[in-house]
Amino acid sequence: MEHMVQQSGILVVSYIVASVLFILSLGGLSNPETSRRGNWFGIIGMAIAVIATFFHPSVSKEGYGLLIAMLLIGGVIGSIVASKIAITAMPQLIAGFHSFVGLAAVLVGINSYMESGQLMGAARIVHETEVVLGVFIGAITFTGSVVAFGKLQTIIRSKPLLLPGRHMLNLIMFLGAMYCGYLVFGVQDLMAQGMPMLIVMTVIAFVLGWHLVMSIGGADMPVVISMLNSYSGWAAAATGFLLGNNLLIITGALVGSSGAILSYIMCKAMNRSLINVIFGGFGAEKPKAKISSGGSELAGEVIPTNIEDVVGMLKEAKNVIVIPGYGLAVARAHHPLKDVVDKLRKRGANVRFAIHPVAGRLPGHMNVLLAEANIPYDIVLEMDEINKDFPETDVALVIGANDIVSPGALEDPSSPIYGMPVIEAWKSKTTVVLKRSMAAGYAGVDNPLFYKDNTRMLFGDAKTSIDTILAQLQ
Ligand code: TAP
Repeated sequence: MEHMVQQSGILVVSYIVASVLFILSLGGLSNPETSRRGNWFGIIGMAIAVIATFFHPSVSKEGYGLLIAMLLIGGVIGSIVASKIAITAMPQLIAGFHSFVGLAAVLVGINSYMESGQLMGAARIVHETEVVLGVFIGAITFTGSVVAFGKLQTIIRSKPLLLPGRHMLNLIMFLGAMYCGYLVFGVQDLMAQGMPMLIVMTVIAFVLGWHLVMSIGGADMPVVISMLNSYSGWAAAATGFLLGNNLLIITGALVGSSGAILSYIMCKAMNRSLINVIFGGFGAEKPKAKISSGGSELAGEVIPTNIEDVVGMLKEAKNVIVIPGYGLAVARAHHPLKDVVDKLRKRGANVRFAIHPVAGRLPGHMNVLLAEANIPYDIVLEMDEINKDFPETDVALVIGANDIVSPGALEDPSSPIYGMPVIEAWKSKTTVVLKRSMAAGYAGVDNPLFYKDNTRMLFGDAKTSIDTILAQLQ
């Protein structure tokens, strides 16, 4: 008995320490300068949480072998997947992880339902509420994340699925699932009456999650990823309630609320409404007007350039703004880029970076990339901070970016990215775009920037181009 009290004491203290570490981790991750420390807080917190499981009263000594085996299998698979994954495939990995959280919540919920029979009165109502909510959110998270994975991996086409009356369909599915959930409460025979209703509710929620994400267009995937992040947090919190695990409740609430805040930030960055995101299909609305000025600009001429000319422009430039995009991450050109920036700064140029909130394929993707190359944080600015400086900029260097510098987002109401604030590189004296071809970016739309009089296209792989620029600057 004394041993058990001691064990649960260790568990409570471990959970408190781990919770504090998770909060410190989130705080650290909010700033590039403290993000490494934040990551370590998270790692240590998770290690404590996992080790603390051995002190859980429901884990007997006989169960240790199974626990260690599970930890080893999960740890080995996780390490292999994480070490093999390219940084550009990180969103798919995250979507995959979210789907596991959702599925776990469904399985735990269905399993815990069987304990309902031992409870009475309010305790039973609370327990069944936890089951219904946990299973419902978990099921939506599971299929939604699987579809997000498919779209990001291009297994599923990124074009939105536009079923007629899709909002009504969502509403019917939601109400249907809630009604089945209601029928789960307080039944006499759990297996014969409650369980079939719980299963029907799960199936409806699976279809709802699938449909919600299927009806969202590729251009809006950044918000979907952060929304699913939030859903997975709430699913984990619900699982925590079912298992009576305080740490899981706290961690789930942290993930759920930080994911919701991130979704709000992403919506603001893309000029979208959060309500529309939650109900899906918002990227697929019909254009309000036909293409206007964008159309004539696309008819302009594309002016290719070469390394010598770009090096000449950079040597002359006093103010340079670099705009990194997804292509920089694909080419892994950030290390030589750092050397180019160092060289230009040594020559007395004012070189800064402009970061768009949805550049790349992950929130903060470009910040991580630039931090990896040890580019000083004080020259890395957010879009809103730097946009006003383009008219005084000699050269805007767009590296592997496309949608985030497209004037079409401001001028062309028929564009899927219309309304999204963008980095206004075209306002600089000369814009140099490094990319391999005239291919479109993630949103699949042509970019009027490439046809402007003051734009020069430097075609080729960004790493090869930057390596050569560096060599010529030496
Ligand atoms: P994109 O618009 O996707 O453009 C990237 C460009 O990089 C492409 O046009 C491509 O042109 C070029 N590129 C690819 N590989 C290259 C290489 N090796 N060397 C040189 N260039 C290369 O990227 P962006 O401007 O960063 O915008 C991000 C887009 O992704 C937005 O539409 C955003 O909504 C979406 N998205 C963002 C997120 C988050 S959270 N950030 C998540 C999902 C989706 P070439 O093929 O001609 O080289």
